Formats: sequence, C-alpha cells, structure tokens
Amino acid sequence: MHRKNTTLGEFIIENQSSFQYSSGELSKLINAIRLAAKVVNHEVNKAGLVDIIGAAGDTNIQGEDQQKLDVLANEKFIQTLINREIVCGIASEEEDDFISINSSDERHQNKYIVLIDPLDGSSNIDVNVSVGTIFSIYRRVTPIGTPVSLEDFLQPGRAQIAAGYIVYGTSTMLVYTTGDGVNGFTLNPALGTFYLSHPNLEFPETGKIYSVNEGNYVHFPQGVKDYIKYCQKEEGDRPYTSRYIGSLVSDFHRNMIKGGIYLYPKSSIAAEGKLRLLYECNPMAFIAEQAKGKASNGFGPIMDIKPTELHQRVPFFCGSKKMVEKAEEFMQASK
Ligand code: AHG
Ligand code: MN
Ligand code: MN
Ligand code: MN
Repeated sequence: MHRKNTTLGEFIIENQSSFQYSSGELSKLINAIRLAAKVVNHEVNKAGLVDIIGAAGDTNIQGEDQQKLDVLANEKFIQTLINREIVCGIASEEEDDFISINSSDERHQNKYIVLIDPLDGSSNIDVNVSVGTIFSIYRRVTPIGTPVSLEDFLQPGRAQIAAGYIVYGTSTMLVYTTGDGVNGFTLNPALGTFYLSHPNLEFPETGKIYSVNEGNYVHFPQGVKDYIKYCQKEEGDRPYTSRYIGSLVSDFHRNMIKGGIYLYPKSSIAAEGKLRLLYECNPMAFIAEQAKGKASNGFGPIMDIKPTELHQRVPFFCGSKKMVEKAEEFMQASK
C-alpha cells in the first residue's frame, strides 16, 4: 500500500525495484515527463491571458511568434526528453514522422521510446475547460545503438512499459502506471511538487455514466445506437447519466473515479473513429486495464491490435469492465 503525501520524486525512487527493466533509466524518463508537465501546466494556466499576451499567430512584444498551445506543449515535451538524453526516439500526434535521437554520449545507449499526445482536448483551451497530455513508453525492438525505425513505434499496446496522463483541471494531476497498478499525483502549484493523492486507482466494476459525442448518433453503427438506447432505458439502475467533456483525458479520469464508459466509435463519417491508437488509445487502455477497467475496439482488446501506421485511428470503448462488456455484447449482436 502506498503512503499518501509521498512526493512523486520519492515515489519514483521507492518503486524503482518494481520496474521490469533497467530501473534507473525509466525513473529518469518519468522524472523528465514530470518536469515537462510542470512547464506545460504553467503555459496552460496562462491560456486565458490570450487577449493580453497575444493569440496564436500574433507576434509578441519581443518579436516572437505566439504559438498554438498544442504546438508549444509538443515542443516542451520533445525538448525536455531530447535535452536529457534519455530516449532514443519520440513520436507525437503533432509530428508527421517519428524523431530519432542520437545521443552525444556514446555510453548512453538508450532503450526507450516515447509516444505523446502533447495536448489532448485542445479545442477546450479557448473556453477554459480541462485539457491533458497522454504518454506511452516502450522498449525499442531494434538493436541498441542504431537509429530507431518505424517498427519500434508500431508495437502492440501490450508491449508498453509505462503509460500515463496529465490532466490540467481544477487541480493538475499526473496519473501513471508502470504495470503495477495506477497511482495519481496532484500538483501543489505553490511548491511545484506533485504529491501522491490517489494511490491504487481503480475503476468501479460498473458505473452510471456514459460519455459519447451523441451529436454523431445518426452516423453510428447499429450496435452503438442500441447500446446508447440501453443506457437511456428506464430499467434497474438505468437510465445512466450522460457526461461528455470532449477531452479524452478528462472524460476518462472522471469515469475512472466515478464509474463509467467512454465511447468514440467509428461512424459513417469517420471510418475508424477519431482517436489515435498509439498516442491516445493504447496508453489509456494500459491505464484502464491496470485500474481493473477495460478498453476495446468494440470486439476485442485495444492492446492486442498490431499497429500498421503511426497515426492510425481506432474505435474506442473504455471504462468500467462490466459496462465495456455490455457495449461489446451490443456490437457483437448487430455484427
Ligand atoms: P486532440 O485535442 O489531442 O486532437 O484530441 C481530441 C480528441 C479527444 O480528446 C476527445 O475525446 C475527442 O477528440 C473529441 O472529439 P469530438 O469533438 O469529435 O467529440
Ligand atoms: Mn488527443
Ligand atoms: Mn492533441
Ligand atoms: Mn489534435
């Protein structure tokens, strides 16, 4: 059992021994993500000052171009990881291709690659609604010391070593797993320190919340339509409550704490849905399974999918185990 009020820094050191692989390197990597998260948190908190400090596309008083926050977050995460020379490759939702990193120190033969969604829910920034960052860590499959290649990034989610997210909400939280349960840390902004506030996070086995962009209802497959009607039916503990923020990280986080299901199905206007397998679905699926929840494409586990391209999209059903299983039943029935 983890002690509350432990700082994230202490927690990383105390739990190094539970890491499956070279613990020191993974600890440094999580520390770098912790640092980048604080920098991005600072930027996100200033977003409301856009009228004062200038909007994206404007030039500020120093003659610098103001950047969109998702581009800025992308740069902060990538620069932090590159500067600290702890990964051999990075792929990001905001980059067309993966980045191969050659360390200047020959003794540093880094094994890990990172995939990130630097700012999730970016359409919510302008309206002061929670956004997030998602990260996913794998061990490379190509030989150490050589440049990384696409196959290092196209690993199934099952191969993840660690995954997590940061939610920039009413409080800023960092939630992550290294395959030994899920723990949540809340930032004390006055001190710049993350404290263990949510040890051993778990999805309730079932819940009463469903989260889906229902405006797309007419475009959904029959199985999803049937499941939504099931959620709305007056019977037993139903109808369920509908909650949809439009930031995957925030919707997931609420559902993990309260019990619920998140759905982003395919539709007649988006053949594979919208969410990206590598930057969004796999890391959230790893966290969900580690928190006793479930993540599916409607027919089977997300983490069993063998990726074929970096920016691949997949239908996503994720949350409390019993609710995801029920949604799968409806999908199967209308196949
Ligand atoms: P991103 O901002 O990283 O591109 O991701 C947005 C995603 C996800 O966060 C959210 O759940 C979903 O888009 C919302 O999409 P709709 O507006 O189509 O519902
Ligand atoms: Mn996203
Ligand atoms: Mn994004
Ligand atoms: Mn985006």
